[in-house]
Amino acid sequence: FNVPKAVNEPVKAYAVGSKEREAVANAYKEMWNSKIEVPLYIGDQEIKTGNTRNMSAPHDHQHIVGTYHLAEKSHITQAIDNALETRKKWAAISWENRAAIFLKAAELIAGPYRAKINAATMIAQSKTIHQAEIDAACELIDFLRFNVEYMTQIYKEQPNSDSSTWNRLEHRPLEGFIYAITPFNFTAIAANLPASAAMMGNVVVWKPSDSQVFSAKVIIDIFKEAGLPNGVINVVFGDAIMITDTILASPDFAGIHFTGSTHVFKDIWAKIGNNIDTYKTYPRIVGETGGKDFIIAHPSANAKQVTTGITRGAFEFQGQKCSAASRVYIPQSLWPAVKNQLETDLKSMKMGSPEDMSNFITAVIHEGSFDKLTSYIDQAKKDADAEVIFGGNYDKSKGYFIEPTVILTTNPKYTTMETELFGPVVTIYVYEDAKWSETLKLVDETSEYALTGAVFSTDRFAIEEATVALQNCAGNFYINDKPTGAVVGCQPFGGARASGTNDKAGSVLNLLRWVSPRTIKETF
Ligand code: SER
Repeated sequence: FNVPKAVNEPVKAYAVGSKEREAVANAYKEMWNSKIEVPLYIGDQEIKTGNTRNMSAPHDHQHIVGTYHLAEKSHITQAIDNALETRKKWAAISWENRAAIFLKAAELIAGPYRAKINAATMIAQSKTIHQAEIDAACELIDFLRFNVEYMTQIYKEQPNSDSSTWNRLEHRPLEGFIYAITPFNFTAIAANLPASAAMMGNVVVWKPSDSQVFSAKVIIDIFKEAGLPNGVINVVFGDAIMITDTILASPDFAGIHFTGSTHVFKDIWAKIGNNIDTYKTYPRIVGETGGKDFIIAHPSANAKQVTTGITRGAFEFQGQKCSAASRVYIPQSLWPAVKNQLETDLKSMKMGSPEDMSNFITAVIHEGSFDKLTSYIDQAKKDADAEVIFGGNYDKSKGYFIEPTVILTTNPKYTTMETELFGPVVTIYVYEDAKWSETLKLVDETSEYALTGAVFSTDRFAIEEATVALQNCAGNFYINDKPTGAVVGCQPFGGARASGTNDKAGSVLNLLRWVSPRTIKETF
């Protein structure tokens, strides 16, 4: 069980004039005009179905980066058949051979493919270089390295035996195949969902988001170069409902690894329930879904620290993180200082294309998202109990750009205090200092989701009170820090309530969902 000790990949700075900055700029230029065609990856075939859709850049939506091919129902059945055929060999090879592939993939990303995977994420998911580096390079490398280490912990753990009885625990892959549905907002999550299941000996059918096809291609090519056999991870694109229904109709469907919206996850769960008599085994259902993540400041909090928590928590990554701060509770006594600091901080946030690496935020992912976000901003401009105090401008003529926007409300249950928006919009409610405990109760009562949350205070009793009162409101709880930016190996990530099954991505807990242990007792 000796594997290289997992260490977090250091985040590169991309300083002006540095070689690493130049490498990304070159990769960006090259990929921008590449007109790449992305096939389906099924078994040993790369299939061009001829039925294609364009991939565009959210910050320049008329620019077509390339196309990708869409699957028919028959391709999904073919992907399942290929996966099951591959399973016969993949499930049987030693864990060391599986681990080595993913460790090598991590090294390929850390070295020769770093600029490429970052550039693909910058172009088609509109991330700044710093956002791409944290996600597509470092977090993905960390997932691969740490999961290999966690995998060995699982295999190493064995029950007690004695001289006449030998007890063994065998962590077999699930009997069947795994379906991975992945989101646009993190290249690392998109890669980790199929990879973590595959690492444990499973075969996978992977359906990436339509907005993440470009980096999905880079990932699958890297996995293959690292030695992943054909058919272990089969990649399909196309109509999500058709793909899901075809997969869920297979008796060999053994589990789903999902990150996406709450309502899609609930629909899938219901469909699995309806089909339950048709499956050979109870499918594992693992999902990370929505969030409506909070920041609550106590009157003792440091205003500058709170403001940094808001600006970084709400606006980094265009607010397109399930962990992003989107509702904030500030005591009256702290509000003037926080408001002043917010104004200063927001002025320094540059928005524009990721090609200009000095930009802090870029465009939101697509027109649907832009229209949804701007309709809430417009409504807040009209409503009596809300006011747009900063930002609020937007423009989709070239790219889907929305200014970092702060809504102030007098109603703690105002729509944008409760609805997940998934973009650079945060709503603030100012409470009376004397109502701290009451406000904690309010946060709990209005937490339909329970992904992340943060408390800011310099008073240990207040921190203790918040930690207890909000214990069910966040799977990742932060004290005096923004509620985003969980690091693999340091803050295992996931939430409960409507936020998911809380199986903590990048942890032993998550990997255990992809094995079916067999206990063997042998008597001498
Ligand atoms: N893991 C990311 C974060 O913590 C969100 O997906 O911000």
